[in-house]
Amino acid sequence: MTTAIIGVGNIGSAVARHLVSGDELVVLAAKNQSDAEAVAQKLGPRASAASVEDAIAGADAVVVALWLDALQDVLPRNSQGLEGKVVLDPSNPLGFDENGQMIRTLPDGQSSGSIVASLLPASAHYVKAFGTLAADSLANSANREPRAVLFYATDDDEAAATAERLIRVAGFDPLKVGGVADAIRIEMPGGDLHQAGLNGALLDIEQARVALATTGATA
Ligand SMILES: NC(=O)c1ccc[n+]([C@@H]2O[C@H](COP(=O)([O-])OP(=O)(O)OC[C@H]3O[C@@H](n4cnc5c(N)ncnc54)[C@H](OP(=O)(O)O)[C@@H]3O)[C@@H](O)[C@H]2O)c1
Repeated sequence: MTTAIIGVGNIGSAVARHLVSGDELVVLAAKNQSDAEAVAQKLGPRASAASVEDAIAGADAVVVALWLDALQDVLPRNSQGLEGKVVLDPSNPLGFDENGQMIRTLPDGQSSGSIVASLLPASAHYVKAFGTLAADSLANSANREPRAVLFYATDDDEAAATAERLIRVAGFDPLKVGGVADAIRIEMPGGDLHQAGLNGALLDIEQARVALATTGATA
């Protein structure tokens, strides 16, 4: 199995490093291919770099580690290549105002996941995943004892199976919060099960199950 990672910033490079540590093959792509090449070189022979188009074409699963505005450009342009692929989306509805302050870019109640899912071809297998921790926590908490949980949300069984496998390979425990309608719960700002909504806590699987049950999830 090969996983494409589009975007090698905070999230994409952390996910790439964890997957390679778990013996997964990854192919990396970025806006500037030299950025992807530099990260791939650091990660060793299980990582390579390619254009966005070629990375998607050569992969079974695609982690789209881009900001929502970039996703709104990149996904429609790669619609054909994404047919039948599992697409893992860590995005949040975040941007910055003219003062550099972080702002919500979508109306309250609308998730980034719902937008991203709507931009994919009908045959793609969509899952919200790998975005539930702050980037530094994601980078530094793989393979803890007990393992930290990464929540995910999907309506698609194939996407769920791939998300569970990749989250485990990356050194975390997976826990499904529900379908795409529940993706908003694991996004920030506002998601009660995003790390930011949990006062920065990293949950193990038992704590995560309690949090899910006590906050009234639908899964
Ligand atoms: N940072 C966090 O703590 C955090 C936590 C959870 C979820 N997230 C979400 O994860 C996503 C990525 O965040 P990040 O912090 O990793 O962002 P980032 O560090 O700014 O990285 C963004 C990456 O996107 C690439 N990119 C931009 N436009 C592109 C295009 N048109 N085609 C291909 N690649 C493109 C950039 O490539 P170049 O380097 O070549 O410009 C860069 O590698 C966001 O949606 C964010 O909301 C972030």
